[in-house]
Amino acid sequence: MFEHLADYPGDPILSLIGAYQSDGRPEKVNLSVGIYTDAQGKLSVLQSVVAAEQHLRKRSLAPSMYLPMEGHEGYRLSAQRLQFGNESPALAEGRIATLQTLGGSGALKIGADFLRQWFPGSSVWVSDPTWDNHIAIFEGAGLAVKKYPYYCSSSAELAFEGMLKELSTLPSRSIVLLHPCCHNPTGLDLTNAQWLKVIKVLVERELIPFVDCAYQGFGEGLDQDAFAIREMERAGLTFLVSYSFSKNFSLYGERVGTLSVVCHSPQVATKVLGQLKATVRRNYSSPPNHGAQLVDLVLGSELSTLWRTELEEMRLRTSSMRELLATLLSDAGLPLGEQLRRHRGLFSYTGLNKAQIGRLRQEFGIYLVDNGRMCVAGLTMEKTPYVSSAIVEVLLHRE
Ligand code: LMR
Repeated sequence: MFEHLADYPGDPILSLIGAYQSDGRPEKVNLSVGIYTDAQGKLSVLQSVVAAEQHLRKRSLAPSMYLPMEGHEGYRLSAQRLQFGNESPALAEGRIATLQTLGGSGALKIGADFLRQWFPGSSVWVSDPTWDNHIAIFEGAGLAVKKYPYYCSSSAELAFEGMLKELSTLPSRSIVLLHPCCHNPTGLDLTNAQWLKVIKVLVERELIPFVDCAYQGFGEGLDQDAFAIREMERAGLTFLVSYSFSKNFSLYGERVGTLSVVCHSPQVATKVLGQLKATVRRNYSSPPNHGAQLVDLVLGSELSTLWRTELEEMRLRTSSMRELLATLLSDAGLPLGEQLRRHRGLFSYTGLNKAQIGRLRQEFGIYLVDNGRMCVAGLTMEKTPYVSSAIVEVLLHRE
Protein backbone atom coordinates (compact mmCIF):
# COMPACT_ATOMS: atom_id res chain seq x y z
CA MET A 1 0.00 0.00 0.00
CA PHE A 2 2.69 2.51 0.96
CA GLU A 3 5.63 1.29 -1.14
CA HIS A 4 5.44 4.35 -3.36
CA LEU A 5 6.14 6.73 -0.49
CA ALA A 6 9.26 8.89 -0.75
CA ASP A 7 12.01 8.40 1.83
CA TYR A 8 12.11 11.25 4.37
CA PRO A 9 15.58 12.81 4.18
CA GLY A 10 15.24 14.07 7.78
CA ASP A 11 14.90 17.60 9.10
CA PRO A 12 18.00 19.76 8.42
CA ILE A 13 18.08 20.92 12.07
CA LEU A 14 16.37 18.29 14.24
CA SER A 15 18.21 15.34 12.64
CA LEU A 16 21.46 16.79 14.02
CA ILE A 17 20.28 16.23 17.63
CA GLY A 18 20.41 12.45 17.13
CA ALA A 19 23.64 12.61 15.12
CA TYR A 20 25.33 14.62 17.90
CA GLN A 21 24.04 12.33 20.66
CA SER A 22 25.40 9.22 18.97
CA ASP A 23 28.81 10.80 18.37
CA GLY A 24 31.18 9.15 20.89
CA ARG A 25 33.97 11.77 20.75
CA PRO A 26 34.41 13.56 24.12
CA GLU A 27 35.51 16.79 22.41
CA LYS A 28 32.24 17.08 20.41
CA VAL A 29 30.35 20.41 20.50
CA ASN A 30 26.71 20.94 19.60
CA LEU A 31 26.17 24.30 17.88
CA SER A 32 23.29 23.18 15.70
CA VAL A 33 19.76 23.27 17.15
CA GLY A 34 18.59 26.53 18.74
CA ILE A 35 18.94 25.53 22.36
CA TYR A 36 20.54 27.52 25.16
CA THR A 37 22.98 25.50 27.24
CA ASP A 38 24.68 26.74 30.42
CA ALA A 39 28.36 27.41 31.17
CA GLN A 40 28.89 23.65 31.55
CA GLY A 41 27.21 22.91 28.22
CA LYS A 42 24.10 21.46 29.91
CA LEU A 43 20.48 22.18 29.14
CA SER A 44 19.36 24.75 31.72
CA VAL A 45 16.72 24.23 34.39
CA LEU A 46 15.58 27.67 35.53
CA GLN A 47 15.16 28.09 39.31
CA SER A 48 12.01 30.14 38.73
CA VAL A 49 10.52 27.16 36.86
CA VAL A 50 11.68 24.73 39.56
CA ALA A 51 9.87 26.84 42.16
CA ALA A 52 6.71 26.87 40.04
CA GLU A 53 6.93 23.10 39.58
CA GLN A 54 7.31 22.59 43.35
CA HIS A 55 4.32 24.82 43.94
CA LEU A 56 2.24 22.77 41.49
CA ARG A 57 3.27 19.50 43.13
CA LYS A 58 2.20 20.72 46.55
CA ARG A 59 -1.35 21.16 45.29
CA SER A 60 -3.49 18.06 45.47
CA LEU A 61 -3.77 16.44 42.04
CA ALA A 62 -6.59 18.20 40.22
CA PRO A 63 -8.85 16.18 37.91
CA SER A 64 -7.44 16.40 34.39
CA MET A 65 -10.17 18.21 32.51
CA TYR A 66 -9.66 19.35 28.89
CA LEU A 67 -8.40 22.90 28.57
CA PRO A 68 -10.62 25.04 26.34
CA MET A 69 -9.63 25.14 22.65
CA GLU A 70 -7.96 28.52 23.17
CA GLY A 71 -5.95 27.24 26.16
CA HIS A 72 -5.20 28.30 29.74
CA GLU A 73 -6.71 31.69 30.49
CA GLY A 74 -4.10 33.03 32.92
CA TYR A 75 -1.28 31.89 30.65
CA ARG A 76 -2.79 33.65 27.64
CA LEU A 77 -3.07 36.89 29.57
CA SER A 78 0.48 36.64 30.97
CA ALA A 79 1.83 35.99 27.49
CA GLN A 80 -0.04 38.97 26.06
CA ARG A 81 1.40 41.31 28.72
CA LEU A 82 4.92 40.13 28.06
CA GLN A 83 4.65 40.57 24.30
CA PHE A 84 2.55 43.71 23.99
CA GLY A 85 3.49 45.38 27.29
CA ASN A 86 1.34 46.30 30.29
CA GLU A 87 0.44 49.63 28.69
CA SER A 88 -0.83 48.18 25.39
CA PRO A 89 -4.04 49.96 24.29
CA ALA A 90 -5.04 46.96 22.15
CA LEU A 91 -4.81 44.74 25.24
CA ALA A 92 -6.83 47.15 27.39
CA GLU A 93 -9.48 47.43 24.68
CA GLY A 94 -9.80 43.65 24.18
CA ARG A 95 -8.54 43.81 20.58
CA ILE A 96 -6.02 40.97 20.78
CA ALA A 97 -7.19 37.41 20.09
CA THR A 98 -4.71 35.02 21.74
CA LEU A 99 -4.52 31.24 21.72
CA GLN A 100 -2.23 28.91 23.62
CA THR A 101 -0.36 26.82 21.02
CA LEU A 102 1.99 23.84 20.75
CA GLY A 103 5.15 25.96 20.84
CA GLY A 104 6.03 28.51 18.19
CA SER A 105 5.69 25.95 15.38
CA GLY A 106 2.15 25.17 16.49
CA ALA A 107 1.35 28.90 16.42
CA LEU A 108 2.74 29.21 12.90
CA LYS A 109 0.70 26.22 11.76
CA ILE A 110 -2.57 27.52 13.23
CA GLY A 111 -1.85 30.97 11.81
CA ALA A 112 -1.01 29.50 8.40
CA ASP A 113 -4.22 27.42 8.27
CA PHE A 114 -6.25 30.44 9.36
CA LEU A 115 -4.71 32.71 6.70
CA ARG A 116 -5.08 30.06 3.99
CA GLN A 117 -8.78 29.82 4.79
CA TRP A 118 -9.52 33.55 4.87
CA PHE A 119 -6.91 34.90 2.42
CA PRO A 120 -6.64 32.02 -0.08
CA GLY A 121 -5.19 34.29 -2.79
CA SER A 122 -2.37 35.67 -0.64
CA SER A 123 1.25 34.55 -0.83
CA VAL A 124 3.62 34.50 2.13
CA TRP A 125 6.90 36.41 1.87
CA VAL A 126 9.76 35.20 4.04
CA SER A 127 13.26 36.60 4.51
CA ASP A 128 16.01 35.12 2.37
CA PRO A 129 17.25 33.18 4.29
CA THR A 130 14.81 32.15 7.00
CA TRP A 131 14.23 29.20 9.36
CA ASP A 132 13.62 26.21 7.05
CA ASN A 133 10.48 25.21 8.88
CA HIS A 134 8.78 28.54 8.03
CA ILE A 135 8.70 27.48 4.40
CA ALA A 136 7.62 23.92 5.23
CA ILE A 137 4.76 25.08 7.49
CA PHE A 138 3.32 27.67 5.10
CA GLU A 139 3.67 25.46 2.04
CA GLY A 140 2.21 22.60 4.04
CA ALA A 141 -0.85 24.77 4.72
CA GLY A 142 -1.24 25.33 0.97
CA LEU A 143 0.14 28.89 0.73
CA ALA A 144 2.66 29.97 -1.92
CA VAL A 145 5.95 31.04 -0.28
CA LYS A 146 8.22 33.69 -1.82
CA LYS A 147 11.35 35.43 -0.55
CA TYR A 148 12.35 39.03 0.09
CA PRO A 149 16.07 39.99 0.26
CA TYR A 150 17.49 40.01 3.78
CA TYR A 151 21.15 39.06 3.73
CA CYS A 152 23.97 40.07 1.43
CA SER A 153 26.48 37.22 1.35
CA SER A 154 29.30 39.29 -0.17
CA SER A 155 29.25 41.92 2.60
CA ALA A 156 27.77 39.61 5.28
CA GLU A 157 25.41 42.52 6.12
CA LEU A 158 21.69 43.07 6.13
CA ALA A 159 20.28 43.72 2.64
CA PHE A 160 17.99 46.37 4.06
CA GLU A 161 17.49 48.53 0.96
CA GLY A 162 16.62 45.44 -1.10
CA MET A 163 14.20 44.26 1.58
CA LEU A 164 12.41 47.59 1.75
CA LYS A 165 12.24 47.86 -2.03
CA GLU A 166 10.76 44.38 -2.40
CA LEU A 167 8.18 44.93 0.33
CA SER A 168 7.17 48.18 -1.39
CA THR A 169 6.12 46.25 -4.49
CA LEU A 170 3.99 43.54 -2.86
CA PRO A 171 0.28 43.29 -3.64
CA SER A 172 -2.05 44.36 -0.86
CA ARG A 173 -2.93 41.54 1.60
CA SER A 174 0.39 39.76 1.01
CA ILE A 175 1.54 38.02 4.18
CA VAL A 176 5.02 39.09 5.37
CA LEU A 177 6.85 36.86 7.83
CA LEU A 178 9.17 38.94 10.04
CA HIS A 179 11.57 38.11 12.89
CA PRO A 180 11.25 40.86 15.54
CA CYS A 181 14.60 39.96 17.17
CA CYS A 182 17.42 37.39 17.01
CA HIS A 183 16.93 36.61 13.31
CA ASN A 184 17.07 32.89 12.58
CA PRO A 185 19.44 31.94 10.93
CA THR A 186 21.60 35.06 10.37
CA GLY A 187 21.64 36.77 13.79
CA LEU A 188 21.31 40.12 11.95
CA ASP A 189 18.46 42.29 13.25
CA LEU A 190 16.92 45.50 11.99
CA THR A 191 17.64 48.67 13.96
CA ASN A 192 14.66 50.50 15.49
CA ALA A 193 14.91 53.14 12.75
CA GLN A 194 14.81 50.41 10.09
CA TRP A 195 11.77 48.84 11.74
CA LEU A 196 9.92 52.14 11.53
CA LYS A 197 10.62 52.28 7.79
CA VAL A 198 9.38 48.71 7.32
CA ILE A 199 6.25 49.41 9.35
CA LYS A 200 5.47 52.43 7.17
CA VAL A 201 5.59 50.20 4.09
CA LEU A 202 3.45 47.51 5.78
CA VAL A 203 0.80 50.14 6.48
CA GLU A 204 0.97 51.82 3.06
CA ARG A 205 0.83 48.54 1.11
CA GLU A 206 -1.89 47.05 3.35
CA LEU A 207 0.24 43.98 4.02
CA ILE A 208 -0.44 41.33 6.67
CA PRO A 209 2.58 41.09 9.00
CA PHE A 210 3.16 37.72 10.65
CA VAL A 211 5.75 38.27 13.37
CA ASP A 212 7.53 35.14 14.60
CA CYS A 213 8.97 35.79 18.05
CA ALA A 214 10.85 32.79 19.45
CA TYR A 215 13.74 34.49 21.26
CA GLN A 216 12.37 37.42 23.26
CA GLY A 217 14.95 38.42 25.86
CA PHE A 218 17.98 36.98 24.06
CA GLY A 219 18.65 39.98 21.78
CA GLU A 220 18.84 43.29 23.63
CA GLY A 221 16.40 42.57 26.49
CA LEU A 222 12.72 41.73 26.98
CA ASP A 223 11.21 45.11 26.14
CA GLN A 224 13.76 46.09 23.49
CA ASP A 225 13.14 42.79 21.65
CA ALA A 226 9.41 43.59 21.51
CA PHE A 227 10.01 46.97 19.82
CA ALA A 228 8.72 45.87 16.38
CA ILE A 229 5.60 44.24 17.86
CA ARG A 230 4.71 47.28 19.96
CA GLU A 231 5.38 49.72 17.11
CA MET A 232 3.15 47.69 14.78
CA GLU A 233 0.39 47.97 17.31
CA ARG A 234 1.02 51.72 17.62
CA ALA A 235 0.87 52.06 13.82
CA GLY A 236 -2.63 50.55 13.83
CA LEU A 237 -1.72 47.43 11.86
CA THR A 238 -3.74 44.24 11.96
CA PHE A 239 -1.09 41.55 12.45
CA LEU A 240 -0.27 38.10 13.78
CA VAL A 241 2.35 37.16 16.38
CA SER A 242 3.54 33.59 16.87
CA TYR A 243 5.47 33.14 20.09
CA SER A 244 7.57 30.50 21.80
CA PHE A 245 8.50 30.08 25.47
CA SER A 246 10.78 27.13 24.61
CA LYS A 247 13.99 29.13 24.80
CA ASN A 248 13.33 31.91 27.31
CA PHE A 249 11.84 29.42 29.83
CA SER A 250 14.06 26.49 28.78
CA LEU A 251 10.86 24.45 28.41
CA TYR A 252 11.54 22.85 25.03
CA GLY A 253 9.66 19.64 25.75
CA GLU A 254 6.51 21.29 27.10
CA ARG A 255 5.54 22.94 23.78
CA VAL A 256 4.47 26.29 25.16
CA GLY A 257 3.63 29.03 22.70
CA THR A 258 0.92 31.46 21.70
CA LEU A 259 -0.64 32.88 18.58
CA SER A 260 -2.06 36.40 18.80
CA VAL A 261 -3.92 38.47 16.26
CA VAL A 262 -4.11 42.22 16.90
CA CYS A 263 -7.40 43.54 15.51
CA HIS A 264 -9.07 46.91 15.03
CA SER A 265 -11.99 46.25 17.37
CA PRO A 266 -13.00 43.82 20.14
CA GLN A 267 -15.81 42.57 17.89
CA VAL A 268 -13.35 41.54 15.18
CA ALA A 269 -11.03 40.01 17.81
CA THR A 270 -13.93 37.85 19.02
CA LYS A 271 -14.62 36.63 15.48
CA VAL A 272 -10.92 35.95 14.89
CA LEU A 273 -10.62 34.02 18.17
CA GLY A 274 -13.63 31.96 17.16
CA GLN A 275 -12.06 31.02 13.83
CA LEU A 276 -8.73 30.25 15.50
CA LYS A 277 -10.52 27.96 17.96
CA ALA A 278 -12.19 26.18 15.05
CA THR A 279 -8.75 25.73 13.46
CA VAL A 280 -7.41 24.26 16.71
CA ARG A 281 -10.40 21.94 17.02
CA ARG A 282 -9.82 20.41 13.62
CA ASN A 283 -6.09 20.03 14.25
CA TYR A 284 -5.78 18.75 17.84
CA SER A 285 -8.84 19.98 19.82
CA SER A 286 -7.08 21.66 22.74
CA PRO A 287 -3.57 22.18 24.11
CA PRO A 288 -1.89 20.46 27.08
CA ASN A 289 -1.93 21.95 30.56
CA HIS A 290 1.37 21.51 32.34
CA GLY A 291 3.77 23.90 30.59
CA ALA A 292 1.16 26.66 30.44
CA GLN A 293 0.57 26.32 34.19
CA LEU A 294 4.30 26.68 34.87
CA VAL A 295 4.69 29.78 32.69
CA ASP A 296 1.58 31.35 34.18
CA LEU A 297 2.75 30.67 37.74
CA VAL A 298 6.11 32.32 37.03
CA LEU A 299 4.84 35.33 35.09
CA GLY A 300 1.88 35.90 37.39
CA SER A 301 3.83 35.92 40.68
CA GLU A 302 6.92 37.36 42.31
CA LEU A 303 8.85 34.52 40.60
CA SER A 304 8.84 36.69 37.48
CA THR A 305 11.65 38.84 38.97
CA LEU A 306 13.81 35.73 39.36
CA TRP A 307 12.91 34.61 35.84
CA ARG A 308 13.89 37.99 34.37
CA THR A 309 17.27 37.77 36.14
CA GLU A 310 17.82 34.24 34.88
CA LEU A 311 16.90 35.22 31.32
CA GLU A 312 19.26 38.18 31.45
CA GLU A 313 22.05 35.84 32.61
CA MET A 314 21.35 33.56 29.64
CA ARG A 315 21.44 36.54 27.28
CA LEU A 316 24.72 37.84 28.71
CA ARG A 317 26.38 34.43 28.67
CA THR A 318 25.42 33.97 25.03
CA SER A 319 26.83 37.32 24.00
CA SER A 320 30.02 36.80 26.00
CA MET A 321 30.60 33.46 24.22
CA ARG A 322 30.03 35.17 20.86
CA GLU A 323 32.51 37.87 21.85
CA LEU A 324 35.11 35.30 22.94
CA LEU A 325 34.83 33.44 19.63
CA ALA A 326 34.93 36.74 17.71
CA THR A 327 38.14 37.75 19.51
CA LEU A 328 39.82 34.42 18.83
CA LEU A 329 38.86 34.48 15.14
CA SER A 330 39.95 38.11 14.75
CA ASP A 331 43.28 37.29 16.42
CA ALA A 332 43.70 34.55 13.82
CA GLY A 333 43.15 37.18 11.09
CA LEU A 334 39.67 36.05 10.02
CA PRO A 335 37.09 38.73 9.06
CA LEU A 336 34.43 36.36 10.43
CA GLY A 337 35.41 37.56 13.92
CA GLU A 338 34.24 41.11 13.19
CA GLN A 339 31.11 39.82 11.43
CA LEU A 340 30.03 37.87 14.52
CA ARG A 341 30.01 41.09 16.56
CA ARG A 342 27.08 42.38 14.48
CA HIS A 343 24.87 39.45 15.47
CA ARG A 344 22.30 39.16 18.26
CA GLY A 345 20.54 36.22 19.86
CA LEU A 346 21.30 32.53 19.73
CA PHE A 347 22.49 32.40 16.13
CA SER A 348 25.31 33.58 13.94
CA TYR A 349 25.59 33.00 10.23
CA THR A 350 29.19 31.96 9.58
CA GLY A 351 29.22 31.91 5.79
CA LEU A 352 30.90 28.48 5.96
CA ASN A 353 29.86 26.29 3.05
CA LYS A 354 28.42 22.80 3.22
CA ALA A 355 31.80 21.14 2.65
CA GLN A 356 33.38 23.19 5.46
CA ILE A 357 30.46 22.40 7.79
CA GLY A 358 30.92 18.72 6.86
CA ARG A 359 34.62 18.89 7.78
CA LEU A 360 33.81 20.52 11.14
CA ARG A 361 31.43 17.67 11.88
CA GLN A 362 33.54 14.79 10.60
CA GLU A 363 37.04 15.87 11.62
CA PHE A 364 36.27 17.81 14.81
CA GLY A 365 32.84 16.64 16.07
CA ILE A 366 31.56 20.24 15.85
CA TYR A 367 27.93 20.37 14.74
CA LEU A 368 26.53 23.38 12.84
CA VAL A 369 23.52 23.44 10.50
CA ASP A 370 24.44 22.84 6.83
CA ASN A 371 23.41 26.39 5.87
CA GLY A 372 26.29 27.73 8.00
CA ARG A 373 24.22 28.68 11.05
CA MET A 374 25.95 28.40 14.41
CA CYS A 375 24.08 28.38 17.72
CA VAL A 376 26.54 30.39 19.82
CA ALA A 377 24.48 29.64 22.94
CA GLY A 378 26.04 26.14 22.78
CA LEU A 379 29.59 27.47 23.30
CA THR A 380 31.43 27.28 26.63
CA MET A 381 34.66 28.88 27.89
CA GLU A 382 36.30 25.49 27.68
CA LYS A 383 35.16 24.57 24.16
CA THR A 384 35.38 27.94 22.37
CA PRO A 385 39.18 27.87 21.72
CA TYR A 386 38.75 24.40 20.22
CA VAL A 387 35.88 25.60 18.00
CA SER A 388 37.86 28.66 16.93
CA SER A 389 40.93 26.65 15.89
CA ALA A 390 38.74 24.16 14.00
CA ILE A 391 37.10 27.03 12.06
CA VAL A 392 40.53 28.51 11.30
CA GLU A 393 41.62 25.09 10.07
CA VAL A 394 38.68 24.58 7.68
CA LEU A 395 38.77 28.18 6.42
CA LEU A 396 42.52 28.55 5.92
CA HIS A 397 43.67 25.04 5.22
CA ARG A 398 42.17 22.82 2.62
CA GLU A 399 41.92 19.09 3.22
C1 LMR B 1 16.06 26.02 15.69
O1 LMR B 1 15.89 26.84 14.78
O2 LMR B 1 17.08 25.35 15.82
C2 LMR B 1 14.97 25.81 16.72
O3 LMR B 1 13.93 26.71 16.47
C3 LMR B 1 14.53 24.42 16.81
C4 LMR B 1 13.75 23.94 15.63
O4 LMR B 1 12.63 23.48 15.83
O5 LMR B 1 14.25 24.00 14.49
